[in-house]
Amino acid sequence: MASSKSSMEAHLELYEIILSAAKPMALRAAVLLNIPDIIAIHGSQNPLSVDQIASHISSSTNKPAHTDYLFRIMRLLASISVFTEETTIDYGGTPQFKYGLTSISKLLVKNDAQQSCAPTVLAINLKCIVDGYQYLHDSVIEGCHAFTKANGMGIFEYNSHNPEANRIFNEGMATNTGPLMAHVVKIYDGFKSLKSVVDVAGGVGSALSVIVAEYPHIHGINFDLPHVIRTASPIHGVEHVEGNMFEQIPPANAVFMKWILHDWDNEQCLKILKNCYEAIPEDGKVLIVDAVIDEEEGMKRQAGLLFDMCMMAACTGGKERTWKEFEDLFYKAGFNSYRVIKLPFLQSLIEISK
Ligand SMILES: C[S@@+](CC[C@H](N)C(=O)[O-])C[C@H]1O[C@@H](n2cnc3c(N)ncnc32)[C@H](O)[C@@H]1O
Repeated sequence: MASSKSSMEAHLELYEIILSAAKPMALRAAVLLNIPDIIAIHGSQNPLSVDQIASHISSSTNKPAHTDYLFRIMRLLASISVFTEETTIDYGGTPQFKYGLTSISKLLVKNDAQQSCAPTVLAINLKCIVDGYQYLHDSVIEGCHAFTKANGMGIFEYNSHNPEANRIFNEGMATNTGPLMAHVVKIYDGFKSLKSVVDVAGGVGSALSVIVAEYPHIHGINFDLPHVIRTASPIHGVEHVEGNMFEQIPPANAVFMKWILHDWDNEQCLKILKNCYEAIPEDGKVLIVDAVIDEEEGMKRQAGLLFDMCMMAACTGGKERTWKEFEDLFYKAGFNSYRVIKLPFLQSLIEISK
């Protein structure tokens, strides 16, 4: 009996894994349908029924929403704690479901664009990235990059040819930066003494905008590829500069890099770090914000491992690294010391010095 139970459990667990791709896809649908915002606006006091949510969707799309499909998406997302679900039985004995926000779906509400993770859901689940996952096994057999196999080129080149993917990707990177950066500028004491900071591969400049807002004496240089800089809005105190970090990085007192080293293989990271070394003075710093695969941190480790698969699907050689792997890179690039500032986020802050 015991063995058949465990075999059934194994079977169910296997199906849970096999079908797990449904979770981000249902989440993406909910974000595209603006459901977290609909509930935040119209259901802040009382949770909303499927019909109520559907009517708000219909009024924004001008098409009657199909409640049966909507219910199935809501039911799954409630089962994984994205929404609360309340059940009542109506006079005819039929169950009625109502949905509210949880601490997870509150992160997807777009009332503050800098804080919402909704664009991140869309960016990480871009079709070109999801297509990359189809080729993970080819990476093992051929050593190829899954994204390139799926799309014929690397992601940054792909974005330069696809304005819509470029927009969704850049928006996804820019948001979710708010809470993390608000924390970084509060706890990192090194900004006070800096006159200039270059954000290498800074996207549209959202991280720098938080740094210069807190430390207006800092001259910010937001450095990224031309197709990204072209879409960046002006930010007071920030100069947008186009360029290629593998060639040269504009000089500054400090380099900041968020979500960059994990995009690249070790050789490429060494090139970037050596260019960072050249860009800063003797007492300069490089500040890195990246996830670290830490054996001692259970939930963060699991999220890091999932992100690592995303890097395999989305990047040309990118990976999440352990402390040891980061340390090896820093020393090989010529830096002498580093210190770690743990953050209450997936990423940690690492300060490296010459
Ligand atoms: C994962 S995104 C991170 C963006 C930003 N740092 C953030 O955290 O929101 C990686 C960024 O690297 C930029 N990038 C890629 N290759 C580059 C290169 N050779 N030189 C400069 N930037 C580059 C991309 O355009 C993109 O904005």
